Amino acid sequence: MIRIHNLHKSFGDLQVLKGVDLEISDGETIAIIGRSGCGKSVLIKHIVGLLQPDFGFVEVNGQIVSELNEKELYMLRSKFGFLFQGSALFDSLTVEENVGLTLSENTPMKKSEIRTIVNEKLELVNLRGILDQKPAELSGGMKKRVGLARALVTNPQYILYDEPTTGLDPITSDSIDEMIYDLSKRLKVTTIVVTHDMVSVKKVADKIAMIHDGKIYFIGTHDEFMKSNDQVIMSFIKRTGY
Ligand SMILES: Nc1ncnc2c1ncn2[C@@H]1O[C@H](COP(=O)(O)OP(=O)(O)OP(=O)(O)O)[C@@H](O)[C@H]1O
Ligand SMILES: [Mg+2]
Repeated sequence: MIRIHNLHKSFGDLQVLKGVDLEISDGETIAIIGRSGCGKSVLIKHIVGLLQPDFGFVEVNGQIVSELNEKELYMLRSKFGFLFQGSALFDSLTVEENVGLTLSENTPMKKSEIRTIVNEKLELVNLRGILDQKPAELSGGMKKRVGLARALVTNPQYILYDEPTTGLDPITSDSIDEMIYDLSKRLKVTTIVVTHDMVSVKKVADKIAMIHDGKIYFIGTHDEFMKSNDQVIMSFIKRTGY
């Protein structure tokens, strides 16, 4: 499980996280929401050790992330699939190379073995016959799927999605949401979705954590969130146009 305790992070004078406490149990899907710039991406970067806390800590499977050495951090990261904001595919690489990159760079696996795994992960996200294509030839939704296949390549215990449906039309968004939900149940992965899309939240998440003013302002179900008569929550819902 993931335990975030009293996490503080500033950049210069800007205090972004001011004491975040959050527990994410194994197998659950949690949506992290909040206004643009409130620190959602900063928070999830701490989970995989891409940022170091000023104070407080993140614990994953009993290990304090900021105390790990390089090798331990590598081991920890291999338990995570990460779909970055934007798909972050390499334009010069084919789909096969993009999805298999972690394996070709970090394991002694043969090309044919990697291809088998790549194909298996592409099947999971309903993509076939595109191994030799380059990202530029793919639609936005397909790129997200390829990014997702790449995130799955190490058989992660956790998947982090940063804004998986941003920039997609409603129908494509729907299919990505379905995939996130389906994968979370089928692979029994613990799923963390950062999003400002309340439609997605309702479809995929067991639980919502809302960041406001550097802390977890709300934690609960989608229904509890929608029924809240707290001013901050009501104005957030209104602003998302949901
Ligand atoms: N590496 C960094 N150096 C300096 N400032 C940063 C850095 N990373 C994030 N910030 C600042 O921290 C704040 C929170 O950023 P973050 O990316 O977490 O927002 P967010 O909630 O993910 O927003 P969005 O919904 O727009 O993606 C922003 O003001 C941002 O400019
Ligand atoms: Mg962000």
